[in-house]
Amino acid sequence: MNLSPRTRRIATGLACTLLVAAVGFFVLTSARPSNRTLPPHHPDPARGEVLFSVGGCVSCHKASISDGVSGPPAGGVEFPTLVGSFWPGNLTPDVETGLGGWTAEQFVAAMIDGVSPDGRHYFPAFPYPSYRAMPVGDILDLWAHLETLTPVRSPARAPTVPALGLARRGVGLWKRLALEEPGFRRDPRRSDEWNRGAYLSNGPGHCGECHTPRNALMILDPDRAYEGGPHPRGEGLVPGLLNLEKRGRYSDAADLVLALQFGETFGYDRLSSGGMADVQMNLAKLPEDDLLAMAEYLLSLE
Ligand code: HEC
Ligand code: HEC
Repeated sequence: MNLSPRTRRIATGLACTLLVAAVGFFVLTSARPSNRTLPPHHPDPARGEVLFSVGGCVSCHKASISDGVSGPPAGGVEFPTLVGSFWPGNLTPDVETGLGGWTAEQFVAAMIDGVSPDGRHYFPAFPYPSYRAMPVGDILDLWAHLETLTPVRSPARAPTVPALGLARRGVGLWKRLALEEPGFRRDPRRSDEWNRGAYLSNGPGHCGECHTPRNALMILDPDRAYEGGPHPRGEGLVPGLLNLEKRGRYSDAADLVLALQFGETFGYDRLSSGGMADVQMNLAKLPEDDLLAMAEYLLSLE
């Protein structure tokens, strides 16, 4: 081929730019399983069970073979999203199809970094952007609870996301923009109770994943926290949680606790559709003081 020096220069420039872009994309989006050393911790599986309920793990990881949020988190139920469908996996300690072969370090990396044991990014349909507010000790308690479950055989099913491998890399870019520092930042001006409620709601409870609107990059908008908005799975509108008391939705914290414990059976409305029924049934399992702390926090939102 007989190219003029100018064309050759342009072609070389273009090739270099593409190469740099490709390498840049590769570096920026690579996911390495993190090798953090876990702090010494004496795990408390009972506390882990509470966090499992706050976290609503079984809402998405419920078993295709059984009974909704009262069954084991054996996975296999379709979870449709805007980018495709997922079948959230088996969280029981089955060695072949569940988490039985995982180490605690790998579980912590999934919950905080959103990275799989084989070094791939998880989609934020798994709400690790919220879970990463959990201190490692709480995640280890949750892990200890999962280890007490009866192993269930329930093989994984691959998501139907187009160009899955590339899309997972794209998630790596998104995480660079979207993820906040791990851990929970308490507000020193507020009470311990309020801070506990804020932690449970925004960390494991991930209430904002539905109740806070997202910006154009699908990142939860901190300036519009709990204003409500479109449902992440396209199931209508999610109501806001601001000024619940002023708007007469609940008379006080005890009233909101009753609503979260008993929902529709006690005549409280707007707790049944768009995934909220599962959330409410999970919250019903919490000790009352955890619910009271959450209610105190939620009623302070204005
Ligand atoms: C809103 C739905 C949702 C909730 C709630 C949820 N997950 Fe998941 N989870 C997912 C999805 C979707 C994936 C798969 C993500 C992917 O493949 O990129 C996933 C993946 C995982 C994985 C990776 C292994 C696997 O099964 O694919 C672990 C571990 C996990 N979740 C643990 C948890 C725990 C523990 C909780 C509760 C604290 C929880 N999840 C709550 C949706 C959810
Ligand atoms: C999967 C999405 C989703 C998650 C996660 C979620 N909610 Fe909701 N929530 C909804 C939807 C949808 C409704 C409206 C349901 C209806 O109209 O029946 C709702 C309704 C509510 C209401 C009633 C609002 C009113 O006007 O009285 C409260 C209170 C509430 N949620 C609290 C919470 C708390 C606390 C959490 C976290 C522990 C949470 N929600 C997590 C989707 C969600």
